[in-house]
Amino acid sequence: MINTITLQKATIEDCDTIYCWRNDPTTREQSFNSREILYEKHSQWLKKALEDPKKFFYIGIDEKGKKYGVVRFDIKSKFSAEINIIVAPDKRGKGIASQLILKSCSLFFSETKRKLILARIKESNSASVRAFQKVGFSKLFHYKEEDKERILALVLLAPDRRIR
Ligand SMILES: CC(C)(COP(=O)(O)OP(=O)(O)OC[C@H]1O[C@@H](n2cnc3c(N)ncnc32)[C@H](O)[C@@H]1OP(=O)(O)O)[C@@H](O)C(=O)NCCC(=O)NCCS
Repeated sequence: MINTITLQKATIEDCDTIYCWRNDPTTREQSFNSREILYEKHSQWLKKALEDPKKFFYIGIDEKGKKYGVVRFDIKSKFSAEINIIVAPDKRGKGIASQLILKSCSLFFSETKRKLILARIKESNSASVRAFQKVGFSKLFHYKEEDKERILALVLLAPDRRIR
């Protein structure tokens, strides 16, 4: 059975957890920057990012406070943002990603009044593409930079902007 996940704003207390998830080999393989990140660099980046009004971090937790994943939104314009997700390595393959994406997008839309969320994912990252599509993201286009992997761009519109 999938645990019910609720969201809380990430704080500097989540620094070590996010660091472990970000340096996990699968996360690195699926990231646009696959290099290992040094702890010092990560903690400095997170501290700055948490204070940045253009970044929103949500941690998915269960009723016992166990952490399941992190979702980050980077505001791109007055109406748009980009989403990134990492599910805890030992919690993958249990349907956590779609729950986290759905809840965090809904919260983000209501908190920021943004109208569009963009996800850019390596096309080979089937679990991620599937999780985003499952909650309503639509494929928009794909692109490729030089000899790198093909990237898929997907979008989700705020409920009040969807054309029926
Ligand atoms: C990608 C990621 C977020 C998926 O999280 P998850 O909780 O394991 O995903 P889910 O369990 O919700 O699975 C999503 C869907 O993909 C399917 N899936 C899972 N693993 C898969 C695989 N290896 N190949 C194909 N499909 C897969 C699942 O069956 C599910 O589909 P279904 O609901 O129709 O059965 C997680 O693996 C992760 O954190 N990876 C590292 C970081 C990353 O890639 N982030 C995404 C870039 S934005």
